[in-house]
Amino acid sequence: MEVERVQAIASISKIIDTIPPEFIRSEREQPAVTTYSGPVPEVPVIDLGNPDEESVVRAIAEASQEWGIFQVVNHGIPSEVIQRLQTAGREFFELPQEEKEAYARPPDAESLEGYGTKLQKEVEGKKAWVDFLFHNVWPANRINYRFWPKNPPSYREANEEYVKYLIRVVDKLTRYLSLGLGLEGNVIKDAVGGDELEYLLKINYYPPCPRPDLALGVVAHTDLSALTLLVPNDVPGLQVFKDDHWFDAKYVPNALIIHIGDQIQILSNGKYKSVLHRTTVNKNKARMSWPVFCSPPAELVVGPLPQLVNEENPPKYKSKKYKDYEYCKLNKLPQ
Ligand code: SIN
Ligand code: FE2
Repeated sequence: MEVERVQAIASISKIIDTIPPEFIRSEREQPAVTTYSGPVPEVPVIDLGNPDEESVVRAIAEASQEWGIFQVVNHGIPSEVIQRLQTAGREFFELPQEEKEAYARPPDAESLEGYGTKLQKEVEGKKAWVDFLFHNVWPANRINYRFWPKNPPSYREANEEYVKYLIRVVDKLTRYLSLGLGLEGNVIKDAVGGDELEYLLKINYYPPCPRPDLALGVVAHTDLSALTLLVPNDVPGLQVFKDDHWFDAKYVPNALIIHIGDQIQILSNGKYKSVLHRTTVNKNKARMSWPVFCSPPAELVVGPLPQLVNEENPPKYKSKKYKDYEYCKLNKLPQ
């Protein structure tokens, strides 16, 4: 079956200056109707290079409790490394369609890996204005290079280099998140699998859209990962739901955007929040983003940390294998 990629639909939409009806959201979702337009509170920006570790721990704990999302600067990933990752990913999406299709996710595959477009319709039968590529990047025994583009030739090295630095940022963040709960620094990392924590890269490609007021790039969701670390290109589009409103997140050059995912919300027994977010699209420019989802291995049981539950604080979530959590969430079954 021939699959319609949004990138192909976008090139036709551009000429006729309209979008197919399945991309037009109801008024309950349309960004032009539902985006807050008063003074916008800012997603916290945290300086990871600050030598005063205690204040960094406090800032991260506060942001994770109140927002479930923050941006980090001075994270130690050189800007050239991020640029090489972005150039390689952009060049892949700019290849002719049939070259990208060589990496298409096999239908009915168990894994998410591969190039694709969401086939099932979502809220009210509507579709998202985005194509993507998924592949595992770490640990080494989870990598399947069949899904890593050979073109551009720089793709593999650029991704490997980025991931090498990213692992250090994850170690730092999980340590600070543990300390922020009054726990030993290793507790959260160990609870999400230690060295078996799995890193899945997604590249989102949101083509230019003639009606950004009516469409959404990614529908409202929380990430099912433990933690997501994301670099966007310079086209803004991320929106965060807080205090009953959708707010635009500011683009901060060279920052990494950190989402608290469902697994850390569960481990922390609800103290840290997994953030509800969505994305908008742009009329003239392609937006791109590179989230890396850090998730426990499939068989690991995740539940509220025993150190955080007692009679006054009973567990708010069930303990279950990550793969069972994932299955329920992806199939929209009760947790
Ligand atoms: C996502 O949440 O899946 C995408 C976020 C983004 O593109 O900024
Ligand atoms: Fe997300």
